[in-house]
Amino acid sequence: MFMNIEDIKKGIEKDLESVKDLKELNELHIKYLSKKGIITELNSKIKDVPNDKKKEFGMEVNSLRTYFNEKYNALKEKFENDELNKKLESESIDISLPSTKVSIGSPNILEKLIEEVEEIFMSMGYDVVDGPEVEEDKYNFEMLNIPKGHPARDAQDTFYIEGEEILLRSQTSPVQVRTMLKAEGKKPVRVICPGKTYRRDDDDATHSHQFMQIEGLLVDKDISLSDLKGTFEVVFKKLFGDSVEVRLRPSYYQFTEPSVEVDISCFNCKGDGCNICKNTGFITICGAGVVHPDVLRMSGFDPSVWSGFAFGFGAERVAMLKYGINDLRVFYNTDLREVNNFDRGEISSND
Ligand code: DAH
Repeated sequence: MFMNIEDIKKGIEKDLESVKDLKELNELHIKYLSKKGIITELNSKIKDVPNDKKKEFGMEVNSLRTYFNEKYNALKEKFENDELNKKLESESIDISLPSTKVSIGSPNILEKLIEEVEEIFMSMGYDVVDGPEVEEDKYNFEMLNIPKGHPARDAQDTFYIEGEEILLRSQTSPVQVRTMLKAEGKKPVRVICPGKTYRRDDDDATHSHQFMQIEGLLVDKDISLSDLKGTFEVVFKKLFGDSVEVRLRPSYYQFTEPSVEVDISCFNCKGDGCNICKNTGFITICGAGVVHPDVLRMSGFDPSVWSGFAFGFGAERVAMLKYGINDLRVFYNTDLREVNNFDRGEISSND
């Protein structure tokens, strides 16, 4: 019996000497320690061993198992290391070879502009909010002082979805109403809302049935038009450069009183006159104004306590100016050759 164990040990030694890799080592593990393995089988033989030798036999079998396991583990570690080193060697990089060009996408130019605008406003304490694109007439028009039958509706050739009540929002201004209603007339509001808007406009180089607006609203106490001007001075200097001046011109919107058009001095010619500013020295950027008291009231704010300003500009228009793009459809183009050009700053100029 004991002879047998000695023989097995010798067999193990021999086997281990000739083993060449992990696969063969694994086969040895099966040979000795699987359910039907040689060492495992020794356990079933214990019943044939005379009682006074049982203990000794058990100890021998145990030490044989330990012996095998130790050798097995050491070899396993060695083979694994060998394999890793081989892999590292084969994967080593020859830095003298020319590199492969990795083609990556670029952020959409319009998205990039919107993010930039968001960051500027967020740095002034504004929140970025969202609103539904399928909107109720109530929010898109009525609560903005544009009742049914009002001629101002004609200017926004609206897509109606269900009867006269559900529509694709023709402006982002309904988000003003929704935001004020949420604030319940109790706390100041400072938000911008970039989002898609829809009008039944012809698709051409400067019009699209779908476009992005960036709406802004600030409601607080003692807010006047000069706060709006100051805000725009910060925003447009950051977007177009420090030389830019802001000019307000009287205008008319139903939801603001007074209403203004916001112009900036031409960042390209600095006022001398060029194609971009159509030789006027100024570029119109957006509509804005002091929130109409009726609009405040309808949305739950007491106009004798609260006041505010609002504005809305076309993101595509600002991006076209900033990046010198003259066709609106470029923003929705998926041709990587063109998109990549924006990234490298190789863009066609309006000049
Ligand atoms: N909603 C207007 C439009 O689509 C833009 C606008 C003008 C928004 C003045 C405003 C504002 O909030 O005060 O033409």
